[in-house]
Amino acid sequence: MNHSALINVMVKAARRAGRSLKRDLGEIENLQVSLKGPANFVSAADRRAEEMLYDDLTKARPGYGFLGEEGGTREGSDKSNTWIVDPLDGTTNFLHGIPQFAISIGLEREGTVVAGVIYNPANDELYIAERGKGAFLNDTRLRVAGRKKLDECVIACGLPHIGRGDHEQSRREMTEMQNRVAGLRRFGAASLDLAFVAAGRLDGYWERNLKPWDIAAGLIMVREAGGIVSGIEGHDNALQTGHVVAGNEFVQSELVKILKPL
Ligand code: IPD
Ligand code: CA
Ligand code: CA
Repeated sequence: MNHSALINVMVKAARRAGRSLKRDLGEIENLQVSLKGPANFVSAADRRAEEMLYDDLTKARPGYGFLGEEGGTREGSDKSNTWIVDPLDGTTNFLHGIPQFAISIGLEREGTVVAGVIYNPANDELYIAERGKGAFLNDTRLRVAGRKKLDECVIACGLPHIGRGDHEQSRREMTEMQNRVAGLRRFGAASLDLAFVAAGRLDGYWERNLKPWDIAAGLIMVREAGGIVSGIEGHDNALQTGHVVAGNEFVQSELVKILKPL
């Protein structure tokens, strides 16, 4: 499959950082992690991956800005283009050796995400999307699921961590959703939740209080697969608000109807 030069740059960077994360995952699985504890080890793995991504992406596109979870904003001379990067999305899974985590790279141009790559090195699943050119999983074109009955849909969500977010609200949402859908899931990596919606594995997904690096690449993935992504109230502001609702047109609007009043 031939992708653009831009996508090739993103894929190459994701694969190199992915090899590093995969080696580190092996360490965790073999319990070779130092006495300082796995959390320190994981944050070092995380930072190492981000530096690799920063090096590769800025070498290939000098001047582009870079927003990474670990290093924050690094301004570039080109104010129109910014990489939005999560070097390790699904940290808790990674720490526990659960192979559901990913590198997420989005490119924002003049306020819009125009390209996205999400790569899970544990199973070598590579998701690619570019504006107007579709979304792909390892060269297979993606299309969101077509279901139009909520009680046949499998929907994923996020759950606020200890000490964060509104746990009461989250429970209200879960209760309401449990009464309406075929199955609820919580996988633990927002980028892959969106990629799964794009791939039609999940019919829908919602989560509150995310950061741009969790969702930038996922937003374009879902859209290029024919799906809709919005904020909780249905507006096109997921990247700005950090609240996300995704699915096909029907599912996204049903989820918004359920979640908005909660
Ligand atoms: C987290 C994951 C998780 C979501 C969290 C995010 P991290 O990212 O995407 O699924 O529920 O809110 O912060 O911390 O693993 O990069
Ligand atoms: Ca993340
Ligand atoms: Ca992260």
